[in-house]
Amino acid sequence: MALWKKKPPAEVDFTRLPRHVAIIMDGNGRWAKRRGLPRTAGHAAGAENFRAIATYCKEIGLAYLTVYAFSTENWKRPAEEVSAIMGLLKKYLMEAIGRMERDRVKMRFFGDLSPLSQELRELCRETEEISQRYEGCQVNICLNYGGRDELLRGARAFALDCLEGRADPNHLTEAAFGGYLYSAGVPDPDLVIRPSGEVRISNFLLWQAAYAEFYFTDVLWPDFSKEELHRALAAYQGRSRRFGGI
Ligand code: IPE
Ligand code: IPE
Ligand code: MG
Repeated sequence: MALWKKKPPAEVDFTRLPRHVAIIMDGNGRWAKRRGLPRTAGHAAGAENFRAIATYCKEIGLAYLTVYAFSTENWKRPAEEVSAIMGLLKKYLMEAIGRMERDRVKMRFFGDLSPLSQELRELCRETEEISQRYEGCQVNICLNYGGRDELLRGARAFALDCLEGRADPNHLTEAAFGGYLYSAGVPDPDLVIRPSGEVRISNFLLWQAAYAEFYFTDVLWPDFSKEELHRALAAYQGRSRRFGGI
């Protein structure tokens, strides 16, 4: 592409960053296919890119980053692909634990971890436990996460609290219900980014994204660079958020 045809670099005001950015890390399979590689190579490249983008988000002072890594629907994929993704996750977590003192990022997992292998569950628990003392940047990894599943679980837990006298249905507020979700204690995302050209939410943060700004791009996740993030942040900064007001 001729230089003059390149999009100009996005101007980001780093003093006015969104507090919470969420990303649907989509397009790994197509990235691999375009290179004549197996889909799993795309997932490996996607995991590397996640590391790079998360590190960069911490550098620029973003408070919360939430990423969609594996959905409740992704079990429909061929068993070999699912197991390759789980293998990459294990590798990623082991490396993350090894470099935690250097990265100092607080990590949390949103999703039902119970169908994961015991080894993976243990790695997730360890990652959360070791990293909980870090402050400054929190990364939430959505794993076997589904927005509807999260809302159902929240509803069940609330109903149980009512039955056992710990809660009263007549006094349930939005804030209190938020406390029953995986994201308890985390502010809602301000910006949701979806690479890969798909323009849908795919069961991501259904409750939390009620007033998020959305940014869609054709770039595939493994190619989603700092510059792409700058474009998304600049687009966000150009929006007028009214929350129903005028
Ligand atoms: C996202 O990339 C990763 C997961 C959903 C686990 P995809 O694997 O969905 O990539 P495409 O959409 O097929 O290109
Ligand atoms: C959404 O991507 C889930 C993740 C990125 C983890 P999908 O590729 O699974 O979404 P659909 O199938 O295109 O809606
Ligand atoms: Mg996809």
